Amino acid sequence: MKKFFAVLLATVLMLSCVAVFAACDKKDDNKTTADTTAADTTADTAPVEGEKAVLKMGTNAYFQPYEFYEGEKIIGIDAEIAAAIAEKLGMTLEIVDMEFDSIITAVNAGSVDFGMAGMTVTEDRLKEIDFSVSYANGVQAIIVKEDSAIAHVDDLYAEGASYKVGVQLGTTGDIYATDDFGKDNVTTYSNGNEAVLALKGGSVDCVIIDNEPAKALVAANPGLKILETTYANEDYAICVKKGNSDLLDKINAAIVDLTEDGTIAGIVAKYIK
Ligand code: ARG
Repeated sequence: MKKFFAVLLATVLMLSCVAVFAACDKKDDNKTTADTTAADTTADTAPVEGEKAVLKMGTNAYFQPYEFYEGEKIIGIDAEIAAAIAEKLGMTLEIVDMEFDSIITAVNAGSVDFGMAGMTVTEDRLKEIDFSVSYANGVQAIIVKEDSAIAHVDDLYAEGASYKVGVQLGTTGDIYATDDFGKDNVTTYSNGNEAVLALKGGSVDCVIIDNEPAKALVAANPGLKILETTYANEDYAICVKKGNSDLLDKINAAIVDLTEDGTIAGIVAKYIK
């Protein structure tokens, strides 16, 4: 059996994940901007006298419990940790929702200041962007129908097996599955909800996605289950434009502080019970 492990960077903490959540509703508009602080959301990041400067976060808000919609607002572990970081920096957080595979480009183009999206640190991504210290860890899980013939991750690699795998475009699940099973056996979707709909409809045999979003998706979609065996272990971190050490240093210092004073653990405990 082939296993993949994303690179382990300096890890501030390892958060284990054990909860079940109702999945977020699918939003038609996948490009909305949500502001966690209810402040003015102008695109101008230059500070106006007497007003806090805006710190823009790029994310993909279909990833409960890390980022998801509650009404018009994007909430979740990442949204709250980012708000706490912005507060430490004396700035106002603005969250910009986009396709997951656009985040790195947006960070490098400067349309957002950083990316935070349950994003896994990988060697390939490190060639394009810089990552903060890790603030959480994740596991790639496999979702199947309750009556599926796939009982174990090894079944996907069995002699003669050719299962169809659904993934979110540009995620590590996509990258690893494409590498393992070939492009023809992997179908990419804009988000996990769409991949799960495809699984229910029978166009794919399983969905590979991070374990906490997997739990939320299974809780919201009866008839599905998560295989007990996992696919890969990963570290989540914040990304900034390559070479933006000024912002990276500030984010790292904030993560260390927020870890030490228990803020991050408190936020995680609120979403993962
Ligand atoms: N951890 C995976 C990755 O980095 C999936 C992240 C997807 N995140 C999201 N907000 N949709 O590739």
